[in-house]
Amino acid sequence: MRIPIIAGNWKMNTTVAEAAKLVQEMLPGLQAVSKVERVVCPPFVSLTTVAPLLQGTEVKLGAQNLYWEAKGAFTGEVSPTMLQGLCQYVIIGHSERRQFFGETDETVNLKIKAALAHGLLPIVCVGENLAQNEAGETVSFIASQIKGGLAGLSAEQVRGLVIAYEPIWAIGTGKAATADGANSVIASAIRNTIAKLYNKTTAAAVRVQYGGSVKPDNIAEFMSQPEIDGALVGGASLKASDFVAIARLSAEAKGLS
Ligand code: PGA
Repeated sequence: MRIPIIAGNWKMNTTVAEAAKLVQEMLPGLQAVSKVERVVCPPFVSLTTVAPLLQGTEVKLGAQNLYWEAKGAFTGEVSPTMLQGLCQYVIIGHSERRQFFGETDETVNLKIKAALAHGLLPIVCVGENLAQNEAGETVSFIASQIKGGLAGLSAEQVRGLVIAYEPIWAIGTGKAATADGANSVIASAIRNTIAKLYNKTTAAAVRVQYGGSVKPDNIAEFMSQPEIDGALVGGASLKASDFVAIARLSAEAKGLS
């Protein structure tokens, strides 16, 4: 069985002090939802402050990005060796990185390999924009993101990934995808592509999140879908009560509370 995973992507929000406060506000509620994996992804500069606050809890820590080289003359970048031991997860290829920072399936692929080589668990983001959606290109576009992003990975490596399906038009817009729509894209574009590239066991093992305007009032519907194993939550992860509610309602929807 795939263990559900709820991750909060704080994006470029919270000072170090605010990050510490936010995580302390959500911790008691998050710790009560033990059957769902819970991850918070604050900005890089807050990781060393948040990590000790999570020690002794089951709540995991994630980074929002990384560079693929271990060290060197790459001003401003953060390497996998710096994150190793500090956090467990790393978000890779978020649509905002692709859109504003020139990330491609090739750089996503390098980052996934670097993360895995250093024992970090990637949350790999894919998703179509509105024009692609309206042109009926969703499945073929996401299939190409999966092929490019996962190129050269073994089946065993793919089995351990978390993939986040985030339609770009649903991110931060308040206009979430429909739950059954997201479920069918995940089946046809993500699991089916992985089944073809690897095999059905691998496709069935990988955990797939939905992301895009997830809130307490729509999470249960997403989590009731058979192909959806969790959520990558942006805006609602910045409000402790909302993020805790999302984790709790996810466990309930999967019959795990
Ligand atoms: P949102 O962001 O929940 O604010 O729509 C999701 C994401 O970008 O991961």
